[in-house]
Amino acid sequence: PLVSSTPLLAAARAHKYGVGAFNVHTLEMLQAVVEAAEETQSPLILQTTVGTVKHLGPEYIVAAANVAANLASVPIALHLDHCTDFDLIVRCIRAGYTSVMIDASMHPFAENVRLTQKVVEVARAAGVNIEAELGKVGGVEDDIVVAEHDALMADPDECARFVELTGVPTLAPAIGTAHGMYKGEPNIDFDRIGLIASKVDVPLVLHGGSGIPEEQVKRCVSLGMAKMNIATEIRIVFSDAIKSIFAQNPDENDPRKYMVPAKKAVKEAAIAKMTMLGSIGKA
Ligand code: 13P
Ligand code: ZN
Ligand code: NA
Repeated sequence: PLVSSTPLLAAARAHKYGVGAFNVHTLEMLQAVVEAAEETQSPLILQTTVGTVKHLGPEYIVAAANVAANLASVPIALHLDHCTDFDLIVRCIRAGYTSVMIDASMHPFAENVRLTQKVVEVARAAGVNIEAELGKVGGVEDDIVVAEHDALMADPDECARFVELTGVPTLAPAIGTAHGMYKGEPNIDFDRIGLIASKVDVPLVLHGGSGIPEEQVKRCVSLGMAKMNIATEIRIVFSDAIKSIFAQNPDENDPRKYMVPAKKAVKEAAIAKMTMLGSIGKA
C-alpha cells in the first residue's frame, strides 16, 4: 500500500539524503518514475498538482498509485502538490492520498497558520503527511503564478514559530528557487537554509527542483532539504520525446510508439535526480 511520506522524509533528513517527488500527469509518467525508483532502490513520492487531480480525478490517480505501491519493493507515497482548497484536500485524503500540501503562502502569516492548522487537524487524524509553505516560491506552477519581484524568502524565526504553532510535519521555506527552468542559475540562499534547519527539526522541502545544478542540489540536501519537487523537467523530456517521434513520422497513430520513448526519457531523468539527491539504495 501507499505509505505516508512523514517517515520517509524524517529518515531522509536524519541521514542527509533527499527523496525525489515527481509531478506526474499520465499513467506512463507515473510508471516511469516508479521504475526509476525500483531500479535504483530509492524511496519515492508521486505527486500531482490540483490541475492534474481535476484532469484525471483523484480516484484514478490513487488507484494507479496503489497498484504501483503494491507491486513495488520500495516505499511509495502519493502527495497533493500546492493545494489552496481545503475541500479538495479533504477529497484527496478520502480518496487515499497519503500526503497533502496546503499552500497558504499567499496569505499573511497568521492566516497561513490558521489554514495550515485546519489541514493538520484532519490530515493527522488520517495518518496523512502535511506540507506547508512559508515565503513565496517564484514562477508558475499550475494556476499559481508568482512574479519574480513578488517571490519572497522565508524568515527563519517565522519558520520556527510556524512549525511550533501548526505542528506541521514538513515545511517548504522559500529560499530562492523558482518553479520552471531558470534563466541562468537559481539564486539560492544557502545560509538561510542552514539557519532555518538549525531552528526547525522537521524535514524541509525544496521546490522548483527543475534546473538546479547538481552541486547546488547536494548542498541543499546536506543543509536539511529532505524532499525535492521535480515537475517541469520531466514534462519537457516527456513532451520532447513525443515531438521527436512525430517529427520523424507525422502520421504515427499508435500511442505506444510515442509513449514508450517518452516513458524511457522520464525514467532516465528521474534516475538522474535520484542520483544527485543521494536516495539510491535508501529504500
Ligand atoms: P519545477 O517545475 O521547477 O521542477 O518545480 C516543481 C515544484 O516545485 C512542484 O511543486
Ligand atoms: Zn512547488
Ligand atoms: Na525550477
